[in-house]
Order: sequence, then C-alpha cells, then structure tokens
Amino acid sequence: MCGIVGYVGRDNAKDIIIEGLKKLEYRGYDSAGVAIVEKGGILVRKKEGKIANLEEFIKNEKITGTIGIGHTRWATHGAPSDLNAHPHMSNSGNIAVVHNGIVENYVELKEWLAKDYGVQFHTETDTEVIAQLIGVLYKGDLEAAVYEAVEKMKGAYAIGVVAEDQPDKLVAFRKDAPLIAGLGNSGNFIASDIPALLKYLDKIYLIENGEMVVCTADRIQIFDENKNPVDRDLLHVTWSLEDAEKDGFDHFMLKEIYEQPRAINETLMRRIGDDGKIKLDGISLTLEDLENINKIYIVACGTAYHAGLVGKYAIEKMAKIPVEIDVASEFRYRDPYIDDKTLFIAISQSGETLDTLAALREAKRKGARILSVVNVVGSSVVRESDDVFYTWAGPEIAVASTKAYTTQLICMYLLALYMGELRGVITKEYYNQILDELKAIPGKIEKILEKSKDVEKLAKTLYNRTQVFFIGRGMDAAVAYEGSLKLKEISYINSFAIAAGELKHGTIALMEPETIVIALATQDFLFEKMFSNIVEVKARMAHVVSVAKEGNTTIERESNEVIYIPQCADEVSPLLTAIPLQLFAYYVAREKGENIDKPRNLAKSVTVE
Ligand code: M6R
Repeated sequence: MCGIVGYVGRDNAKDIIIEGLKKLEYRGYDSAGVAIVEKGGILVRKKEGKIANLEEFIKNEKITGTIGIGHTRWATHGAPSDLNAHPHMSNSGNIAVVHNGIVENYVELKEWLAKDYGVQFHTETDTEVIAQLIGVLYKGDLEAAVYEAVEKMKGAYAIGVVAEDQPDKLVAFRKDAPLIAGLGNSGNFIASDIPALLKYLDKIYLIENGEMVVCTADRIQIFDENKNPVDRDLLHVTWSLEDAEKDGFDHFMLKEIYEQPRAINETLMRRIGDDGKIKLDGISLTLEDLENINKIYIVACGTAYHAGLVGKYAIEKMAKIPVEIDVASEFRYRDPYIDDKTLFIAISQSGETLDTLAALREAKRKGARILSVVNVVGSSVVRESDDVFYTWAGPEIAVASTKAYTTQLICMYLLALYMGELRGVITKEYYNQILDELKAIPGKIEKILEKSKDVEKLAKTLYNRTQVFFIGRGMDAAVAYEGSLKLKEISYINSFAIAAGELKHGTIALMEPETIVIALATQDFLFEKMFSNIVEVKARMAHVVSVAKEGNTTIERESNEVIYIPQCADEVSPLLTAIPLQLFAYYVAREKGENIDKPRNLAKSVTVE
C-alpha cells in the first residue's frame, strides 16, 4: 500500500525521506519518489520499481534541500510507471503533492479544471488532479488552498503538500487514510505509518479525520475541519527500531514466526491480573453490558477473519453467546440485521483495512457497540471503536500475517473466557484450566520452533507440487483456512481449505496422486471422524501430511508424514497448529525462491476497496 513521509528541518530532507520510505517498503509498492524544495524550484525525482532504483537514479545529483515529501506508490489509477509515480506537480511548478487513498470524483474534478482553467494533465492518476487543484486554488496561502481543495474532493485520502514559495512549511491533511506527525530533534515529520519515523523520534501526534497538520522546522500545528487549532496530546511510541528490523533473520516473516512466544506472552501478561484472573482494563464489559447483548458479530478480512473463525468457536463454547461471522467486504453491503443489542467485534492487525472500517461504521450506524481487536495503536479502527483490545504483537512487517494472527487468537480466548466467567456459564475449574493452557502456549510454541528443521525438510521434498488441500474439523477447519491462505499468498501454490466433512460433497473428485492433503487432526473429540476423512483421501492416492498431538500414533497408519504438536486442550490447539503451517508456507516459498516478505500483487494494509 502507498506510504507517505515528509520532513521539514535542518538536515538533508532527501536522505531522511528515503530512509523513512525504506521502512515502509514492507507495505508493498511499485514505484517511489521524492519532491525536495531546493533553491530555484521543487525538484521531483521518481522511479518505477524499488526504492533502490530511485536512489541509483539520483545518486550523482546534489540535492541539499531541507524540506520535502516522499512516497511509495501501489498503483490504483494508472499503471505503475515513472510518470504515474508520486509526487505530482501542479502545472505552475509551485505545488507538489503525495497522496494515499482514492479521490472518487477525480474525473469530475479533472473535467472542471480542464474546462474552467485550461489545465492539461500529464498522468493517469487521481493524485495529479489534487496537485493541479491546489495549484489553481493557491493564492499565496497554502493552508487555505489545501482546505479549499479538500472541500471539493470526495473519497478517502491522506495528502502531503509543499509549495516552492513556502520553503519552510509542510502541510498535510487526513480523511479516512492514516496520517501521523512527529517531533524530531532536527525537524518535524509527517508519515502514513509509525515505522517510517522510529529512527528519528518516539513521540507522535495521531491525526484525526478532517484535520490539517502544518509543520515547520520548529513547530507542529493541528487544525480541525473548521480551521480551529487542536490541542493534541503526544503519544509515546513503545516500538523500537529493532522491532522493525530483521535482526539476523533472512526474512521478516521468519523473524515474526519466531517472535510468537514473546508476543503471546506479552498479550497474555497484560491481561492477567495479580489475582491470576483476566482483567480487561480500559474495556467496559460489565455483566449489565453482557445482559444487554443477544448476539455478537465478528467481522474482519483475510487472516484476521480466520482468527475470528476460531473466536466464534471459543465465544460460543465458553461464553454461550451466539456469534455470527462475516468477511467485511460482504458484511458492509448486505444490510445485516444489527441493533443496539449487538456486540460488533472488528479484528484487524493494521486497523486501517478499508472494508473492516466501513463494516464497523455500518454496525455503529445501526446502534451496535464496537469492540475492536487491533495491533496498531491509534489506527483508524481504534479511533472509531467504543473499546479496544490491543494484541500487543509489536510491528508486523511481512505481508503474510503470523504473530498478529496468534495474538488475535489469544485476545479471542481471553474475551470468551472473561465473558463466560462473568455470565456464570462456565465453572471455575474450566476457566482456570483454559487459562493455564493459554499460559503454557509460549513454551509449547518454543518446542515446535526447535523442530522447525523437520518442517523445512518436508518443504524441500514437496515444494514443487501444484495442488494442496488443507482439511480439518471444528477448530481445525478454522486453522485450515489460515494454513491455506499462508501457503498460497507467499508460494503461489494453488491451495484450498475445506471442512473435512465436506470433501465427499464434491472436492474429493480432485484428489490425485500428486495432490498434497494437509490434514489437521488435533481435536480429540472429532478424531475418529477426521481419521475417516484421512482414509478417504489416502485411498485416492493423495500425499497426506497430518498434524496431530504428540502420542497419536494411530494417525501414522494413514499419513505419509506426521507433524506433531505438544499435548494441549482441544480448545487451544489452533495456537499450536498454526505454527508448523506458517513454517511450511515459509520454507516452501523460500525453496521456490519467492519474494516472501513482499509477495506479488499484495500489500500489507489494504486501504482501498
Ligand atoms: O490489517 P488487517 O488485519 O485488517 O488485514 C487483513 C488482511 O488484509 C490480512 O490479514 C491479509 O489477509 C494478510 N496478507 C494475510 O497474511
């Protein structure tokens, strides 16, 4: 997804901006560019492809300006190219703009600018329309021109703007796309994401919708949509630069897989009080609140949706409240029945996924109470929720989500147990047993990671297969979806997940000798049923890799290989099963030589529809 960095201060803006953009590379992009205000004009340099291409392109140029904006683009309007890359300039040459998001009425604005002002356009982007619009409206007051422009723009966007004749001022505006501003030692910053600025500061301002930020070298001012100054508290960022670096691992994905014991421990420890019970500080979920709720909706996208599938099982089993679950892109358009007795749970690592945000707004509009499970502090989902359950996974850089998923699962279990206990529908013994099981998870994941070589070996033998099925029952079915997504998104192997009992209703027709079936069989109470499904696919000559609990030797009879996870209660097995599946996807993709951290066509956070 697109990334924005802007700087105004006393140091070389180009170096600082490029450094910041590199920290946003994980979001996925297809071109990069900078606009630096130099003596004598704004210098714009942009290149399709990696930031390294841009660096190579400008390496012999003397660029000394101390104010500028930069961008990594992920094409929406117009193909990836040098020309369509940001920043974009007004024809006057006085205004440069970077932009994340979409201007929905850009065609209308383009026609109006061409007709009334004779503006000629040079690119296919909606962003050029913003630059030309501000260029036409600018009469010496940059803030006024930006305000006037955004009044005419429909859509979701964050923009950064500089003007040649205002070489000490950087202006930014936010509407439904992430934007932060930060105070540094040598100057001040704007950015779309925290990792871009971690090297330079640890205190940021979160910019809200409809707000403008005006940065000079010594000051940051925030104004609301009525142009009134806003007094905003600084947020202390606890992520460190090391958190956002690879730390000796070949890929962020592998690093993040290995970070799971620590991340899960953090999520748990922050929510377990001195009395050994779950505490939901900051989340208002009293017995009275729960008595008012007759249904829970869990809504999310991708991996976060898969965490929600496990959450549904956990909440229905432990809290005995009916749960519906939906992908956000469907939920938002299907007029679901929601009222003030609905608790809506949004799950999102980034907190910026547009569909999830739109679904949340739809639920809110209909009166639901909003509880979100989010990783990124201060993100849009956080700001629009009534209550937030942070995952505290630390920054997740790889596009393929791993530690965000398992920490989301922890949040769902804690919520389920908490609600079950409060409602008096589970025994004290069961509550303590599951809590103990959760506390033991980090140690058990360590044990699985110690045996990662076995999964690596397996991946080396199977990486060139072209068809993989993930099957399971109950909570294993929920994890099967995640295992399949992980494999396909980074290895590009056609993988498919299905509830094992559904196989015989059609999908089993696809079983062939070359087919791999990854059979999750960790639910003891469903084992016999699952074993029958394994026998069925084995009989069709599929190559079966089973995942089972240690001690289950029966499964070896019908499996080509078995990956064992430590013994645990059925309820919490997704937290363990997920690990070998993540490792398998990683090693297969590595064996195939794919770009693991930035898979093709994907972006870390999807802020467009
Ligand atoms: O930031 P979010 O959790 O809202 O993102 C949702 C999905 O886009 C995300 O989980 C995606 O499916 C990942 N690439 C999966 O690894």
